[in-house]
Amino acid sequence: MILVTGGAGFIGANFVLDWLAQSDETVINLDILSYAGNRENLASLAGDERHLFVQGDIGDSALVTSLLIQYQPRAIINFAAESHVDRSIHSPEDFIQTNVVGTFRLLEAVRAYWSSLQGEVRQNFRFLHVSTDEVYGSLAKDDPAFSETHRYEPNSPYSASKAASDHLVRAYHHTYGLPVLTTNCSNNYGPYHFPEKLIPLMIVNALAGKHLPVYGDGQQIRDWLYVKDHCSAIRRVLEAGKVGEVYNIGGWNEKTNIDIVHTVCELLDELRARVDSKSYREQITYVTDRPGHDRRYAVDASKIERELGWKPAETFDTGIRKTIQWYLGNQGWVANVQSGAYREWLKRNYTGRVV
Ligand code: NAD
Ligand code: TYD
Repeated sequence: MILVTGGAGFIGANFVLDWLAQSDETVINLDILSYAGNRENLASLAGDERHLFVQGDIGDSALVTSLLIQYQPRAIINFAAESHVDRSIHSPEDFIQTNVVGTFRLLEAVRAYWSSLQGEVRQNFRFLHVSTDEVYGSLAKDDPAFSETHRYEPNSPYSASKAASDHLVRAYHHTYGLPVLTTNCSNNYGPYHFPEKLIPLMIVNALAGKHLPVYGDGQQIRDWLYVKDHCSAIRRVLEAGKVGEVYNIGGWNEKTNIDIVHTVCELLDELRARVDSKSYREQITYVTDRPGHDRRYAVDASKIERELGWKPAETFDTGIRKTIQWYLGNQGWVANVQSGAYREWLKRNYTGRVV
């Protein structure tokens, strides 16, 4: 079996669902169920014995150790993290706690477990750390895309905490020989994306008749990847990646934020027109920029294509259409994630921001 951490969040849940759609290998899913973790993401697995959900913290060494001893997983895929840049600006300590201290404690428990393994089981064991392209910092317009050897230059508390976790993972391989793999992926989008991030926030706000808050001039660039393509890349790296290596994952799909928001509006105009027949674009509002806002991310994903034969299956056009259709078809999920805590967050991040 495999142990997945953070498997009730956006990417982790998509990964668990895809894994069990393609394999009968059991998944132990360790997730603390923070505001971003949601058991409803895994509702289709209710009663499925191949999925063992455990609510807990990657930083709880005793719990992680007992899970490792009890279930003897052949691999660990570490998704668990605090993941939202804006929250890291408001409350950086949570990011240090989970992304740095949590990853460190997880690595320590895994090192002890792996050291106790013998022969082929020990040789075949893998620890796959899921990270982000944001550790590389921000690119100027004409800079080449991030390769795996690009220097680390994280700019937000989020990316700095992920960078620290990447360094710990690297050090555990270099010093102790722990068989690690690291992936650094660009911005994901797709089903089960919590509506604090750009694309789901725009969809949810548009349908609710609210403002679509674009930070600064909206000309920042991200490289967008459909979440299921990220999941297939992780499966491929787990299966065939070379121990100790880093693989960048991306969609070859750079877009400005304002282009993304326009596309979301146009698709909603087509699929769920406003009652007044005006475009959702009317709801776009430019607001005060994010402090320290990275201007451009772009991923050079040629290594994973060349060495492991992976490339994305979706284009942005197919992926964004599927995503919007998913949100339109899952309004119950959307309503349930908008708890009091979510509304508090919106107040904290957006009140006073409109310019
Ligand atoms: P998310 O915030 O949606 O989910 C994170 C999950 O981790 C939640 O279910 C949460 O409950 C859980 N978690 C948080 N702290 C925990 C702890 N201490 N112990 C156990 N579980 C804990 O995040 P996501 O977007 O699914 O991202 C998953 C991973 O992928 C993160 O490591 C993130 O840095 C990385 N990543 C995300 C993106 C993206 O675009 N979302 C891109 C590249 C890499
Ligand atoms: P986000 O989805 O938070 O991902 P990240 O910051 O990790 O790239 O944001 C994507 C881009 O969209 C980023 O440049 C910030 C911008 N953005 C807005 O313009 N308005 C918003 O309300 C949000 C949440 C993000």
